[in-house]
Amino acid sequence: MTQLVFDEAAAKAVEAMYLTPDVVAQRARVLEMLTPKPGEHILDIGVGPGLLAYDLARLVGDKGRVVGLDNAAAMVALARTRLAQLKQAECVEGQATELAYPDASFDAVVSTQVYEYVADMPRALSELYRVLKLGGRALILDTDWRSIVWHSSDNARMDRVLAVWDDHLANPHLPATLGPLMQRAGFAIRRVEIVPMLSAHYQPVSYAAGIMRAIHGFTRTNAARHGLETQEVQAWFDDQQQLIAQGAFFFSVNRYVFVGTK
Ligand SMILES: C[S@@+](CC[C@H](N)C(=O)[O-])C[C@H]1O[C@@H](n2cnc3c(N)ncnc32)[C@H](O)[C@@H]1O
Repeated sequence: MTQLVFDEAAAKAVEAMYLTPDVVAQRARVLEMLTPKPGEHILDIGVGPGLLAYDLARLVGDKGRVVGLDNAAAMVALARTRLAQLKQAECVEGQATELAYPDASFDAVVSTQVYEYVADMPRALSELYRVLKLGGRALILDTDWRSIVWHSSDNARMDRVLAVWDDHLANPHLPATLGPLMQRAGFAIRRVEIVPMLSAHYQPVSYAAGIMRAIHGFTRTNAARHGLETQEVQAWFDDQQQLIAQGAFFFSVNRYVFVGTK
């Protein structure tokens, strides 16, 4: 596994991708499923650029509290800037597997697109469970990268490129086993839903366009470790550009949202 490094450039790229209408709609679904209330204390694990934490902080209001935690300094810096005006919010560096908070500190904990990067999920979930109050809600959203439907002129080459991309995560198929993992940590599962990222045609400002750029960059750098030539990665990318020009682009992938209670 060669995980993505969330340095300043990667943090900016994630921020741009997560400002697209697809991911704005995802955040609206997450908020609807989490139902943050004024005065609540909420932890956002893997806060990233702080877009969800910003919405959460506004919803809990100045009598509430939102903590955004991330293990990448560049992400914490971005989130801090975004949340600077909201006194009820703070951003800290930390690990999902080692939460520096007392038991029963939060009414709700949210973690979107983070646990797929975490190798020790039993430990991460036991920490999440520990810091939740009794009756508190946990919302976890992750992608199963097997759920991709992505049109290509060469499906075998597409599979080879996506196999390299899978390597950017500790578990590219986490959602398929997340329910039992959460139950083993003590959670009662209340809701499980899919949030699709769908581009039935190409739009330059979209999740699909952003993730294609990210996959291109990552697979070019890591192709050799999988016995792939960088020329093959480039041919895959060029094929996508041709399909876009022909109006034949199609991409979709599913995110899976689990809501559990303690
Ligand atoms: C794809 S981004 C998602 C950001 C944010 N949750 C969102 O949905 O907008 C993944 C984030 O998880 C963070 N992350 C990955 N592994 C982590 C860990 N073990 N502990 C804390 N943060 C982690 C990364 O630094 C990055 O900011």
